[in-house]
Amino acid sequence: MYRYHCLNPISGVGLEHFPAKYESTDNISDADAVLVRSANMHEMDLPKNVVAIARAGAGVNNIPLEECAKDGVVVFNTPGANANGVKEMVIAGMLLASRDIVGGIEWLEHQDATEDIGKLAEKKKKQFAGCEISGRKLGIIGLGAIGVKVANAAVHLGMEVYGYDPFISVDAAWNLSRSIHHINDLNVIYKECDYITIHVPLIESTRKMIGADEIAQMKEGVVLLNFARDLLVDEEALAEALKEGKVKKYVTDFANPLVTSTPNTLVTPHLGASTEESEDNCAVMAVKQLMDFLENGNIKNSVNYPDCDTGACVDVGRVAINHKNIPNMISQFTRVLGDAGVNISNMTNKSKGDFAYTLLDVSTPIPREVAKELKNIHGVYRVRIVK
Ligand SMILES: NC(=O)c1ccc[n+]([C@@H]2O[C@H](COP(=O)([O-])OP(=O)(O)OC[C@H]3O[C@@H](n4cnc5c(N)ncnc54)[C@H](O)[C@@H]3O)[C@@H](O)[C@H]2O)c1
Repeated sequence: MYRYHCLNPISGVGLEHFPAKYESTDNISDADAVLVRSANMHEMDLPKNVVAIARAGAGVNNIPLEECAKDGVVVFNTPGANANGVKEMVIAGMLLASRDIVGGIEWLEHQDATEDIGKLAEKKKKQFAGCEISGRKLGIIGLGAIGVKVANAAVHLGMEVYGYDPFISVDAAWNLSRSIHHINDLNVIYKECDYITIHVPLIESTRKMIGADEIAQMKEGVVLLNFARDLLVDEEALAEALKEGKVKKYVTDFANPLVTSTPNTLVTPHLGASTEESEDNCAVMAVKQLMDFLENGNIKNSVNYPDCDTGACVDVGRVAINHKNIPNMISQFTRVLGDAGVNISNMTNKSKGDFAYTLLDVSTPIPREVAKELKNIHGVYRVRIVK
């Protein structure tokens, strides 16, 4: 029997994937694994029995990743599970920036006392008119889970799409429509595109990557969309460009005092992933990743340990070792097992930064004292007999 504890309400659609051998517990001290959304875990004392945390969502700044890694706790997130929700907001953002739909609706909301409103609306409508997105050029910076979906949807809407991502994954490249111009020079997007949307993570090298110089290169009347993070854009420089009309509209999912008071800006309250489906998808992915880890020791989409997948264990036993990424670890593991007469039938070792993970399949059961000996090796954080 495995036990899990939910620190936040987790979608039932996800939890339904746990079979009968899993049980929810209100007491974290009884749990093997924790499911979390936004609860702050930084000040928590995590009980030793917890071996994994799954964040149903992408951001993990509510979890102390390094401390967890040093305790041998694998932290998962669910990248891409909310990509479709964000994609739909980007498409909506382009449409809202192209015609004054919001202005038209707001105007009508104040006309309830107006007689013959139909006639007045016909007269007034040109004030809210705009352009179509079909035939326009869209530039996408970052072709990950969201960028690829936006690119493919935009192609279907008749747009000419330019994509830029120097680190594109093989998966993303496979999923990208062939009619997209995959470019190597970001300046092409700035110079050519009518709409520019950004879908990169916020890291040191991407902070304020769209600043005054980049804006200066853009076409007059460009629309900029930001459903990634506000700090990717120098919003002070952008505010100037919006006032001058150089940038026609800024559509952002991140409210702050500057953007809410800048003209020609459409701000949504971080709605990108706020759909029932996104929450369900995140929960399903979190649950499946936890199950594969608890039952097989496999890691997929961890943020503090490397991915490592050796399928289901078909041999007598499997042991999982979380350890420091330093020389001479594997030889020590094999020596301890060899001295105990335990035969290794399969072995995988992966590392990510300072941390490493080793899965060993064995053809003889691993005695408890051997597991203890493995745990005593300097640099080992946790030893778990998976099977
Ligand atoms: N608005 C929301 O509610 C919401 C929801 C989910 C994600 N997000 C944001 O969207 C971002 C993208 O999400 P995702 O799921 O597509 O992530 P992802 O990791 O799948 O894709 C990010 C892509 O950006 C690329 N990249 C990194 N640095 C780059 C650079 N300098 N230039 C060009 N490309 C670069 C990477 O190679 C990767 O392909 C997230 O980091 C997050 O901040 C927002």
